[in-house]
Amino acid sequence: MRVVMIGTGYVGLVSGACLADFGHRVTCVDKDEGKIAQLRKGIMPIYEPGLEALVARNVGEGRLLFAGDPREAVPEADAVFIAVGTPSRRGDGHADLSFVHAAAEEVARLIRGFTVLVTKSTVPVGTGDEIEALVRRERPDADFAVVSNPEFLREGAAIEDFKRPDRVVVGFSDERARPVMAEIYRPLYLNETPILFTDRRTSELTKYAANAFLAMKVTFINEIAELCEKVGADVQGVARGIGLDNRIGRKFLNAGPGYGGSCFPKDTLALVQTATRAAAPLELVETTIRVNAARKKAMAAKVVAAVGGEIKGKTVGVLGLTFKPNTDDMRDSPALDLIPALQALGATVQAFDPQGREAEALLPGVDFKSGPYEAITGADVMVLLTEWDQFRALDLDHVRGLMRAPVVVDLRNVYRPDEVRQRGFAYSSIGRP
Ligand SMILES: NC(=O)c1ccc[n+]([C@@H]2O[C@H](COP(=O)([O-])OP(=O)(O)OC[C@H]3O[C@@H](n4cnc5c(N)ncnc54)[C@H](O)[C@@H]3O)[C@@H](O)[C@H]2O)c1
Repeated sequence: MRVVMIGTGYVGLVSGACLADFGHRVTCVDKDEGKIAQLRKGIMPIYEPGLEALVARNVGEGRLLFAGDPREAVPEADAVFIAVGTPSRRGDGHADLSFVHAAAEEVARLIRGFTVLVTKSTVPVGTGDEIEALVRRERPDADFAVVSNPEFLREGAAIEDFKRPDRVVVGFSDERARPVMAEIYRPLYLNETPILFTDRRTSELTKYAANAFLAMKVTFINEIAELCEKVGADVQGVARGIGLDNRIGRKFLNAGPGYGGSCFPKDTLALVQTATRAAAPLELVETTIRVNAARKKAMAAKVVAAVGGEIKGKTVGVLGLTFKPNTDDMRDSPALDLIPALQALGATVQAFDPQGREAEALLPGVDFKSGPYEAITGADVMVLLTEWDQFRALDLDHVRGLMRAPVVVDLRNVYRPDEVRQRGFAYSSIGRP
């Protein structure tokens, strides 16, 4: 298949490279010429484990190309995927579809022969209908079908998720689209991945329902953690005890500082907008959003309590800034709530993240250090905020020697409380005695 991917970000680049690896001929297009120039030199614009090698292999074998101009590839394409951003619209939280619409218009002008237009971006229910109308308006003569194919990959494990997904969802109405989509995902049939062919609206809503459910699950265990702290129970024991029940499942039961990232915050907001407009409000999701926002704010108080109630003039060493490990993505990261809150209370913050490249622009006033030990040197408290592997086995005796005071706030429950306390630290974590 000849495939074009419009938008070469976290989703577009990974999807494009994986589809090329499946054997298709893929052109990844991005309007950001800088990104395309970098990619042509083999430089990845994002950090994702395994991506550089995957891209290099497929470029080398001639199946993966990069273009700044969609004219280079769209006319020949069997399928054009739209994988552009759908951020929250300022003010109301609805998904901002301006990038999707602009991409669809551009593509509409260029398609030749029967072309399947696939929406991979996360878009509100009904967007497929809008795209269809828009393309028809732009090009009354065009022969096309609009398909919804939401992406479920996780940053940090994106290649594995794309190549071995739990399922692929394809929403369509024009029967001619089915064989094209089946051919694109054919390698997945071999490992018996369920491919759910459904209607477009069901597919669009499935993506939001999945993210809202996961956001709710995380928020649930976070609230249970809060209760554990009050009653002297251990949230990890509770999570294990409930997670072994297959109806609940073990994943997404790690209590932490509140969810962030490029998807849950914006997708829960957008789903609530859709539901409210449809007069079917989703109160569970509304509550999840509210509880999570409050939780992210409450983390500063936890750090203040750990240093005895007054943080003014103290130094906080923060380990990890990205919203989760193995990505450089800073979007809606808990760090963006916690650090400014600590600074506002008069703390000095020094920090280290292995990949949070953007962090310097997003977190003014922070002293960025070159490693974890540098970040906690002279600190009155160490805050473990993102559970990168390299923070899991710090030399705690060395840490104690470097810090001004031996205080650790572990917001990811990486360490065992007794082990850290035995080494002379005051230690607090999430939902554990
Ligand atoms: N990031 C994730 O983990 C994830 C997972 C599943 C789904 N999604 C969804 O996938 C979509 C993309 O997310 P992302 O994180 O990859 O976004 P991103 O911001 O990393 O990438 C979007 C890219 O699209 C480009 N772009 C915008 N308009 C364009 C146009 N008209 N022509 C060409 N390029 C254009 C931008 O320059 C940018 O490089 C979103 O709808 C998101 O909700 C993201």
